[in-house]
Amino acid sequence: MSVSLVNRVVLITGASRGIGRAVALAFAREGARLVLAARSAEGLAGVEDEVRALGSEALSVPTDVTSPEAVTALVDAAVARFGRIDVLVNNAGIGKVGSVESAAFEDDVRQTMRASLFGMINVTQAVLPVLRRQGSGAIVNMSSVMGRKAFARFGSYAIVMHGFPPSRTASARSWPATGSACR
Ligand SMILES: NC(=O)c1ccc[n+]([C@@H]2O[C@H](COP(=O)([O-])OP(=O)(O)OC[C@H]3O[C@@H](n4cnc5c(N)ncnc54)[C@H](OP(=O)(O)O)[C@@H]3O)[C@@H](O)[C@H]2O)c1
Repeated sequence: MSVSLVNRVVLITGASRGIGRAVALAFAREGARLVLAARSAEGLAGVEDEVRALGSEALSVPTDVTSPEAVTALVDAAVARFGRIDVLVNNAGIGKVGSVESAAFEDDVRQTMRASLFGMINVTQAVLPVLRRQGSGAIVNMSSVMGRKAFARFGSYAIVMHGFPPSRTASARSWPATGSACR
């Protein structure tokens, strides 16, 4: 089944570079309207220009997803500008490389959990009331192959990524009546 994305409002975290930027441009090519979030205002401005060059609308909101207040302001800005949110792409995140034996390992886990897992939870919690009001919407969480297996030196990242599948299942089961989807 193909779904038109023309004029759909898509909020992407971690949109200032990398995969988030690529996802934003892919949605823009399909005619979606973009809300771009990350900490770097400069990075967001560059991606916003690229989205506009493709003929789509974009709103950049510099946001640290670890801050619930900043995330609330992001969602408020998105709704004020576009009136709705159809798709949330939880893409913001970090990854640390280092052995389990390293002195920094515990801190690596904490930092990754804060940005990638709790960031995802913060944004999901702020967007869910909007999806409920609309009775529709989709959430995409950017996990990794390391959410299924772990590799040497990527232990902190794998520990955090393994938290994504149950988060997705719990989210999907928490609002089955609204017609929303969580991937
Ligand atoms: N690269 C891979 O091979 C791979 C594979 C599987 C999954 N992933 C996942 O895909 C996502 C993107 O990966 P990537 O390779 O594109 O990474 P990247 O190039 O390092 O980009 C990460 C993005 O997240 C943003 N970000 C980081 N911390 C943030 C915070 N606290 N608040 C708001 N934004 C934040 C960064 O922007 P600012 O620095 O401006 O905030 C940037 O836009 C990550 O979640 C990663 O775990 C990556």
